[in-house]
Amino acid sequence: MKETRIYLKKGKERKVRNLYPWVYRDEVRKIEEGDVVADVFSHEGVFVGRGLYSKGARIVWRFLSREYDPIDRNFFVRRVEEALNRRGKINSTAFRVVFSESDFLGGLMVDRYNDGLVIQVRSRGMEEVKGTVIDALTEALSPSFIYERSDMESRRYEGLEPVKGPVLGDVPDRLTITENGINFYVDVVNGLKTGFYLDQRRSREYVADLIDEGMEVLDLFSYTGGFSVYAALRGGRVLAVDTKEEALDLARENARLNGVEIRTLRYDAFKFLGETEDVYDVIIADPPAISKRKDERKKILGAVWKLTYNSLPRLKVPGHLYVCTCSYQASVEDMVKYVRLAAIDRGTPVHIRAILIQPEDHPFLPHFPESLYLKCLHVVKVEV
Ligand SMILES: C[S@@+](CC[C@H](N)C(=O)[O-])C[C@H]1O[C@@H](n2cnc3c(N)ncnc32)[C@H](O)[C@@H]1O
Repeated sequence: MKETRIYLKKGKERKVRNLYPWVYRDEVRKIEEGDVVADVFSHEGVFVGRGLYSKGARIVWRFLSREYDPIDRNFFVRRVEEALNRRGKINSTAFRVVFSESDFLGGLMVDRYNDGLVIQVRSRGMEEVKGTVIDALTEALSPSFIYERSDMESRRYEGLEPVKGPVLGDVPDRLTITENGINFYVDVVNGLKTGFYLDQRRSREYVADLIDEGMEVLDLFSYTGGFSVYAALRGGRVLAVDTKEEALDLARENARLNGVEIRTLRYDAFKFLGETEDVYDVIIADPPAISKRKDERKKILGAVWKLTYNSLPRLKVPGHLYVCTCSYQASVEDMVKYVRLAAIDRGTPVHIRAILIQPEDHPFLPHFPESLYLKCLHVVKVEV
């Protein structure tokens, strides 16, 4: 079959030329249906780019190339190798090899765990070429296993059912990764996301540097103890709080795996902060994506306000709060504003010492603002 041809409404080609990788259905004037590979043309019929067609979806096209490249196994091998070469030196046996649109492979995430891969396919177009992509990943990376974790609800917007299961080789029930010399057990089958929060690697390093022997550290929303283990290894006395029992069990095991101990508490982190009377040197607050919806931006920022407002009295002076959001909808400016409002409401001066975003294996493509999703503020409680 021939490529699908998508003709845009007048003026809509500009953003695609400027490397914005999506075309929405309401930006399209006419579609001449062909196969999943789709070429986008301006209103005047000038070629703008080649990508994948997601028939029936709101995001009808995702970018792959500015040329008439054949979209075959070689193409995907090249894109994967380019992504890998961009990663630079990452001191971990687990990292993200392909970050979707940022690596010009919209709809595809590939995480490497030792010599195995966990993939996520998020769009209808990418689903249709999945077989070729898997062949390409096998050629480019020679994985010992590939496991698919396309079990996100957002696939339904593309008319796809969530999918989860082995694709190639034997997937270990539990594997051990090493990040900055620290070992973690990871369950890629049942864990959150693809098993581990690879996107917080740089934050874990950063927060570890704040900690000295004997400091009291509160790790809220701790999951399997990423921040907790780093902190305990620096001599921190750590309490990890999460609502997931299995995550806390694994957090304690992860601590032991590295020769340290942490305390854990299964409890709602928001409630805990409001109820505890203890004080800490460092509080880490890395909540789940409260929402990804634009109309719920206030709810996401409300969580930033609440975590800051309730952390401030629980911090020594100086004391450190490391607060994050993982939704594109909350900008850095928004976060700063809500931290400031919480500090004013408490009558407590604060410094913002650093702003961190997702690390280099989750590249932020400024042409695609949606690719900046993780932001963390290092807030310091000070005296005046
Ligand atoms: C973004 S993850 C944290 C990742 C972790 N910081 C790491 O580096 O591995 C969010 C965690 O919050 C937990 N969670 C969700 N709602 C919660 C709540 N109300 N109180 C405590 N934990 C919660 C989830 O179980 C999940 O483990």
